[in-house]
Amino acid sequence: RWATHGKPNKVNAHPHFDTHHTLAVVHNGIIENHDALRRDLKEKGAIFVSDTDTEVIAHLIADFYQGDLLKAVQQAVPLLKGAFAIALMHREHPDQIIAIAHETPLIVGIGQDETFISSDANAFSQYTKEVVYLNNDEIAVIKANKLDVYDVHNKPVAVERHRISETSGDIAKGHFETYTLKEIHEQPRSIHNALLSRTVEDYGTAFFDEIDFDHNELLAVKRILILACGTSWHAGYVASYLIEDMARIPVQVEISSEYRYKNPIVPPDTLVIAISQSGETADTIAAVKEIKAKAAKVLAICNVQGSTLTREADACIFLRAGPEIGVCSTKAFTSQVVVLALFSLMMARMRHMSKQEGQAFLEGLQTLPEKVQQVLDNSYLIEEIAKKYAHYQNFFFLGRRYMYPTSLEGALKLKEISYINANGYPAGEMKHGPIALINEDCPTVALCANKFTFEKLLSNLMEIKARNGKVIAIAEQDEKGLQNIADEIIWIPPTIDELAAIPSTIATQLLAYYIAKERGADIDQPRNLAKSVTVE
Ligand code: M6R
Repeated sequence: RWATHGKPNKVNAHPHFDTHHTLAVVHNGIIENHDALRRDLKEKGAIFVSDTDTEVIAHLIADFYQGDLLKAVQQAVPLLKGAFAIALMHREHPDQIIAIAHETPLIVGIGQDETFISSDANAFSQYTKEVVYLNNDEIAVIKANKLDVYDVHNKPVAVERHRISETSGDIAKGHFETYTLKEIHEQPRSIHNALLSRTVEDYGTAFFDEIDFDHNELLAVKRILILACGTSWHAGYVASYLIEDMARIPVQVEISSEYRYKNPIVPPDTLVIAISQSGETADTIAAVKEIKAKAAKVLAICNVQGSTLTREADACIFLRAGPEIGVCSTKAFTSQVVVLALFSLMMARMRHMSKQEGQAFLEGLQTLPEKVQQVLDNSYLIEEIAKKYAHYQNFFFLGRRYMYPTSLEGALKLKEISYINANGYPAGEMKHGPIALINEDCPTVALCANKFTFEKLLSNLMEIKARNGKVIAIAEQDEKGLQNIADEIIWIPPTIDELAAIPSTIATQLLAYYIAKERGADIDQPRNLAKSVTVE
């Protein structure tokens, strides 16, 4: 259980009950007015046992219940403030579950004499591919072979069934010890899928069947705003370099949770790109809604068909990475970068980029799967380094240009799965403060795969060596000058600077993975984290 209120312990774990244990509730989200509700309900005699906001839902519905469960839910739900998806059962109605979603996803899976409910279709996709997406404030009454849905005015609505993609059933771990390791190893295939039938070698460009914008609309784009969170934000950051370098369109990259509370200035001819693996990240969806109110066009880049973001956006490009189960995002990041690289190429070729330059870039993209495979083939070397460094408590990840967002992503992977404090930093910024932290107890992972700034990075690494800091370099084969500086070197195959984030990231994923493994961490489900962050 991911706790929003109270410690993640047994008492606070779902389901939660009313005083007489007649009603059981599970809930994803936050009830913002739980304090006031709890006070009122206590005055009426309700006995609370947990510290959760969820428990008020059970007591509140029980308070309204007089034999008609649906009616009690309809009376109680308007009193709840916040974002929530709820499923509940009552002792007197053992054959039914009532579910309701407010500003939070909820999906019903229709099987053979069985019905599923989840915030994420991956949870039941191995049993059924037939789904119904509940719209905001709809209430579903679910039986094993019957589904009735009521709208916000309590009128029955006709349900629309959708089919989720075949690949969304592929959630077996296979021979891998964790989903995360499996997903890291899937990257040659997921990158190949992201490229598949989206390139036009003869013209040195890319295209996407899914994009609804017409050519003139794309040509009219003068600015791009990217919205995302976490790893997806890092992919967006890489894309800001790609789009500006290649298509010469100014790009602003914003963290959704900050952007949603701005009163944003959106000049005309701005294209908004919202990036999300799950398509359910509450902050990104809220930022998209805000920007749509300002009449901007939104292009989503997403992995999950039918997700809320894909339904909010004007158009969507899918990652085709297959389900990502490990909480830490791995293959989604590299697919996002590949899709954004294709998008940058398409925008550049519509403007001033020559056919030959476009073809050279495409060649770089097409060779990525085999280069990624080469990094994976060296996993055992990375594992040896990881074992040597797993006991450190602090790490820096440094890079310049494309390697700066790559360093942010490397540091995020290490902190989320190994619980080590890791900071991603632009290497040139170290001397403005953070270098004070460097000593023999704080190793630096140096992301060296940008040729354009390599010499500058070497000077930064010498400053670290002069302060007794250990250096683990991730560098392109044949790169000279590191041998006397780095304590360890993870060699990766060379590629153009614009694409170096991909092989470099695979190396950081493996390093983080094996450090976390050495420390005995729960890699697939790190503490305090959820796969889809559907609450603020
Ligand atoms: O589904 P999204 O891409 O919108 O998720 C965004 C972040 O929550 C996600 O990338 C998170 O940072 C991952 N745990 C990183 O590994």
